[in-house]
Amino acid sequence: MGVSRALLRYLVSLSLIIHAAVTTANFFKPFNVSYDHRALIIDGKRRMLISAGFHYPRATPEMWPDLIAKSKKGGADVIQTYVFWNGHEPVRGQYYFEGRYDIIKFVKLVGASGLYLHLRIGPYVCAEWNFGGFPVWLRDVPGIEFRTDNVPFKEEMERFVKKIVKLMQEEMLFSWQGGPIIMLQIENEYGDIESAYHQRGKEYVKWAAQMALGLGAGVPWVMCKQSDAPDNIINACNGYYCDGFKPNSPNKPVFWTEDWDGWYTKWGGRLPHRPAEDLAFAVARFFQRGGSFQNYYMYFGGTNFNRTSGGPFYVTSYDYDAPIDEYGLLSEPKWGHLKDLHAAIKLCEPALVAADSPQYIKLGPKQEAHVYHVDTNTEGLNLTQYGSQSRCSAFLANIDERKAAVVRFLGQTYHLPPWSVSILPDCRNTVFNTAKVGAQTSIKTVEFELPLFSNISACQQFTVHDEVSYFSKSWMTVKEPIGIWSKKIFSVQGILEHLNVTKDHSDYLWYITRIYVSDDDITFWEEKQVRPTLTIDSMRDVLRVFINGQLTGSVIGRWVKVVQPVRFVQGYNDLVLLSETVGLQNYGAFLEKDGAGFRGQIKLTGFKNGDIDLSTLSWTYQVGLKGEFSSIYTVEENEKAGWSDLTVDAIPATFTWYKVYLSLNMG
Ligand code: GAL
Repeated sequence: MGVSRALLRYLVSLSLIIHAAVTTANFFKPFNVSYDHRALIIDGKRRMLISAGFHYPRATPEMWPDLIAKSKKGGADVIQTYVFWNGHEPVRGQYYFEGRYDIIKFVKLVGASGLYLHLRIGPYVCAEWNFGGFPVWLRDVPGIEFRTDNVPFKEEMERFVKKIVKLMQEEMLFSWQGGPIIMLQIENEYGDIESAYHQRGKEYVKWAAQMALGLGAGVPWVMCKQSDAPDNIINACNGYYCDGFKPNSPNKPVFWTEDWDGWYTKWGGRLPHRPAEDLAFAVARFFQRGGSFQNYYMYFGGTNFNRTSGGPFYVTSYDYDAPIDEYGLLSEPKWGHLKDLHAAIKLCEPALVAADSPQYIKLGPKQEAHVYHVDTNTEGLNLTQYGSQSRCSAFLANIDERKAAVVRFLGQTYHLPPWSVSILPDCRNTVFNTAKVGAQTSIKTVEFELPLFSNISACQQFTVHDEVSYFSKSWMTVKEPIGIWSKKIFSVQGILEHLNVTKDHSDYLWYITRIYVSDDDITFWEEKQVRPTLTIDSMRDVLRVFINGQLTGSVIGRWVKVVQPVRFVQGYNDLVLLSETVGLQNYGAFLEKDGAGFRGQIKLTGFKNGDIDLSTLSWTYQVGLKGEFSSIYTVEENEKAGWSDLTVDAIPATFTWYKVYLSLNMG
């Protein structure tokens, strides 16, 4: 079926309008944002806000418009994102705002869709993001200590935060400029680690707040999980349930910056799942008990592209069991159930914003109502008085996890399933109950027409089905060299710290040396029936030991001891240690000291003449893998790699690159 010319013209002009809107900003009539003890005040009106957490570099720019549209359709008023410092400043002083890091484009798309934006600058973000968002070069700033009252750190942090605020201002993206940004965030859950820094931690909180407020961004700032957040900074709650949360001042509203609607996944771990009913219950309870801003962390989780996964050991998927799945598809019934919930909350908004606080009514041992009405001082609510008025909304909760309850409220009877909230926008009719899912449930299945491989050796059993025409006839392979593969190597005496050498340009660091083994050693091992052993006090994340080109052992863990028996031959033996990182630490105090690779003593024990202290030997260092640095995985470069067909009887190498051609049916 062809597209008519008129429709085509319409589509072209529509895309021009959207393009113009995105490039020229001014999405709204400029408006002010402030807050009182109840809510954010947007353009003079208190608002109840639903926010959708979504990190721009975890999707592609092509996906952004659709994801924003799906958030809006799901009932979001706001999009919330962190700002990713290490993505924007990969080299100190050299900024990057292109591609997946084109934050300006992202913010403009949010504005063009009519949604607001909550920008969490951090610049520490945690987020299961490599090094919590800190650029690894930050470790090399002389005298630096992260996230405390330390001058070099504060200078770097201030420079980046200023840069982002200025950029947003230049692009007219704050609300008072007609842009979508209504709120910012400084730091992230510093309260969790503050005590580790004693008085200097407290000073740092004050400094961070003052610094942020001093930038003249003109919209409110939050700090999350920061019970000592100074005046003028809203301290917000993060967690699975935040309905009991009290801010640290009666002048601040109750905000929930991270509602954990799922969780992240670790390598080898289970896929987390949070049921839609429980999530809806948590959200309804939050608004029931006085909350006014709630953000889903994550509404869309997406993918950790390249080497952005934090860790250690987080998988590249950041699906999070979010309402929109990793591929941008609606996750049902979660998305739909929340959409219905949001619609019900919106119906209550006039009453919720009109009342300064709810009236509490005990309905049973584990049942309670909260009623929002303009005049909360009125005693003895009754149906005739309020039932017909739109400015009365109520939430009826049954917090009994097992038993359903029948309650009387304003002269009527209500059936409340266990662990549920009923929402009554007019104080009379239930329009939504969190435990009753009306949204369609869909089960996603993934169909693989390609043979599945569970591990590398399985490749050998692979046979190609002739009928799968889009799939090239065979896999091709390139072996990755063990140890040295480039001229960019150097030798020094001793064991260097992993990150100091790699600067995180690769996960891989090869340590190469030679060990001389005498006849006496061999006789000693045979007579005593012992084996020499490699011992390392502590290491992370993965270690592979090669002797004379053969993989001898692997160790996986986070700061674990290594005791690895090894075998040598008489004469010179090549000893190669491959240290691998699997996502840098993204949470905790003293991140700059964490590092990677090996710690403490590293030696070979069990030799006739005593232990060999490996840290006294000369080691040659090679960073990275050959295929990695020659971009073997790119369309442009891969052909140069010298591929050969994978044959059924091929002997697998320890590290092998595999490729196959397939054409996708995009229909
Ligand atoms: C929070 C943190 C987020 C994210 C989340 C877990 O504590 O603020 O950035 O790491 O935990 O997904």
